[in-house]
Amino acid sequence: MIQIHHIHELRKHLNEERRAGKRIGLVPTMGYLHEGHMALVDAARKDNDVVVASVFVNPLQFGPNEDFANYPRDLQHDAELLAAHGCDILFAPSVEEMYPKPMVTQVEVPALSTQLCGKTRPGHFRGVATVVSKLFHIVQPDRAYFGQKDGQQVAVIRRMVEDLNFPIQIVAVPIVREADGLAKSSRNVYLTQEERPHATVLYRALQHGKSLLEKGERSPSVVASAMAEVVSAEPGVRLDYAEAVSLDTLEAPERLSGPTMLAIAAYVGKARLIDNFQLDVRSDGVRTL
Ligand code: PAF
Repeated sequence: MIQIHHIHELRKHLNEERRAGKRIGLVPTMGYLHEGHMALVDAARKDNDVVVASVFVNPLQFGPNEDFANYPRDLQHDAELLAAHGCDILFAPSVEEMYPKPMVTQVEVPALSTQLCGKTRPGHFRGVATVVSKLFHIVQPDRAYFGQKDGQQVAVIRRMVEDLNFPIQIVAVPIVREADGLAKSSRNVYLTQEERPHATVLYRALQHGKSLLEKGERSPSVVASAMAEVVSAEPGVRLDYAEAVSLDTLEAPERLSGPTMLAIAAYVGKARLIDNFQLDVRSDGVRTL
């Protein structure tokens, strides 16, 4: 695996690969990689000739009181993991390389960015859409891989790609979980030993929401309130939101039907954790998507 830190160098390298007819897969990340990211790399490895993983903690997607400065970073460990999973190129640009000037041009998908995480993280998805657009222009991949854990992010990126005609296939990779159900996340490192068992409440609340749907409940507010109750009853956990929404609009419909996302965000100590289930809700039952 080679490490590249400059855009012009990456472009030169990938132009040659493209001229040789190679298919390129991109895995955009903010580093501090774990098994969840490796599932993205493995999927990209299977589908493409050249796998590029980017590691860039993007300041544009952090709010003023968020954890940009303290976001966990370990490029050496990231490089080892990526190499072990057959990644070809690690692209790790500096902030100055990505943003040499203040970004007066930004990309926004307002219709999908103000709900769920957008309520407590205003501007977050504009930062994500902007950096992902830049990475798409820099790498020009055939396919790009994102984790389903960030369900709203996937919805925003899919819509951006559709609206702006990026010739890129977006691949969403299922959530990788710990044995007790906690979704793998770089932010799990913030959990203390005492907090860690309480963090499974997001998964337990989602399971409860799903079981209500399986029993025939179709009201988004009933399902959302039931999930919120489970989270709020957990010691040391503060609910941000629990919602049951249509996967297309990220809004609560009158009755849940078809592609649906149960989504939860909660603070466990100083870690803000998110999780979701994506389900197909039918009159004859509920299927995981
Ligand atoms: O999911 C992430 O790690 C980030 O939001 C992404 C897509 C790499 C953009 O910075």
